[in-house]
This record gives sequence, C-alpha cells and structure tokens, in this order.
Amino acid sequence: MKNTQGILIPEEIRQRVLNAKRVVALTGAGISAESGVPTFRGADGLWQNYRAEELATLHAFRKDPELVWKWYDWRRGIIGKAQPNPGHEALVRMEAFYPRFTLITQNVDGLHRKAGSRNVIEIHGNLWRVRCTEEQKTFYLEDVPLREIPPRCACGALVRPDVVWFGESLDPELMNRARQALVSCDLLLIIGTSGVVQPVAGFPAVARQAGAMLIEINPAQTPLSPLCDFTLNGKSGELLRELIPHAVY
Ligand code: OAD
Repeated sequence: MKNTQGILIPEEIRQRVLNAKRVVALTGAGISAESGVPTFRGADGLWQNYRAEELATLHAFRKDPELVWKWYDWRRGIIGKAQPNPGHEALVRMEAFYPRFTLITQNVDGLHRKAGSRNVIEIHGNLWRVRCTEEQKTFYLEDVPLREIPPRCACGALVRPDVVWFGESLDPELMNRARQALVSCDLLLIIGTSGVVQPVAGFPAVARQAGAMLIEINPAQTPLSPLCDFTLNGKSGELLRELIPHAVY
C-alpha cells in the first residue's frame, strides 16, 4: 500500500531492515526540516541568503566575530524553539530495537539527543556548546538570545561555537568511532543529507565496501543515490516510521 507521499516500500526491503542486527543511521539537515529547521542547501537552504565563506570559517570568525555570532544566535533562536519530529523519534526507537545501533549526525542542532537518542556521534559538533579560543575548554552556553555578542569565556577570551567550520578537521576520536560503526554494520540508513560535504560524504562507501545494505531517504536524488540498494524519495518523518513499524509502534 502506498503512503501519503505515494511511496511504496517493497516487502523485501522491509524484511531486510527487520532482519538487520548492526545498524548505522547517518543523518543530515533534512531530518530536522520537518521540525522547522532550515537545511543548508536547496531552495530554502541557509546558504541561499548567507555565503558560507562569510560565516562558517575560522577566517570569518577572526575577521568579524560579532557577525558570525549574530548568525549563530539567529539559528539558535530557530532551533531552540524546534521540537524533534517523528523521524527523530523513529531513530530513538530503532536504538532500542536493534542489538547495535549508532547514529552519526552532521547536524549541530542537538535534536537527536533532545528526542532521546543516546549513542549519537555529533560529527560536526553542537551549536549549544562553545569553545574558549584561549584555553580550548568547552562548555554549554544555551542562552537564547545570547546575553552578549560575541560571548566570552570567564577568562575574558572570545568563545566560538564548538562546531566544525569549512576547512577544519573533524575530531579524530569521533571519526574513529564512526569508522568502526561503519565497517561493522549490516545496514546503513542515509537520511536527509545532500552527500556533498566531505569527509562524511565518503562514509556510505566505507559501509558499502564492508558489505552493508544502503538505504537512502531523501525527497531528492543525491550523489549517494547510485551507491544505494534502495532510495526512498520522500520525507523522513513518515518514511522512517513506515520502514520499521516493527521497531517503532
Ligand atoms: P544539506 O542542506 O546540504 O542537505 C539537506 C538534504 O535534506 C537535501 O538533500 C534535501 O533534499 C534533504 N531533505 C529536505 N527535506 C527533507 C525531509 N523532510 N526528509 C528527508 N530529507 C530531506 O544538509 P547536509 O547534507 O546535512 O556542515 O549538509 C552537510 C553539511 O553542510 C552540514 O553538516 C553543514 C553544511 O555545511 C557544517 O556545518 C560543518
């Protein structure tokens, strides 16, 4: 039976999903779209109005920390009001259902943890956490709006969002954890990512090489689609619930 998006999930796919044991979900901005959080690319994408190079780089921050923090304050305002949607919730239930389940997210919005997911690798960081530019210590700063822009550490130095900016390396420990999950999974779900930002865009190939089945959920085709066994071209909220009703409801 087709769902409200006119999508039919073949029985064979349902069975293979049901029988998987070691599952990884890789998420991107699309999973939070149904919570009202703008994605980065596409018609309503964040980068349509703001140039990434002006805002999400260390160079931009050094040049104009106030501008960069104003942009983050604006995003934190939107995300602070957002609630997890059925897609986030389905992943929480999957974690309880499968013997091994790892969630790798590129999102910095914290909505997976807010929904209740526990084994989450926030590979691009978290926009509620900040890092002192002098002492390098990290702490959570959750005021919305921020009380001072740009915010400072108790030591007086500027703090920056504890997120990965363009041109920066990802945390090697998180990369290692992600890699271990990818090489040992039998099912990889790729949800709501345009699959164009490295090194994460290379993760599906790692799982594929290790023999995992790949299922993508995205209303659009992506560069990752040809690599997948199956692509569900629709929104993740409804489709994740349908893909795993045994786990979810
Ligand atoms: P993008 O904005 O590049 O892609 C979002 C994807 O979600 C697109 O492929 C959409 O088609 C899809 N999408 C939209 N609505 C959806 C829905 N309801 N259900 C499922 N999918 C939907 O976001 P990311 O791929 O996450 O990096 O971007 C990757 C990285 O680029 C981000 O983590 C960020 C950005 O620069 C950093 O901040 C380091």
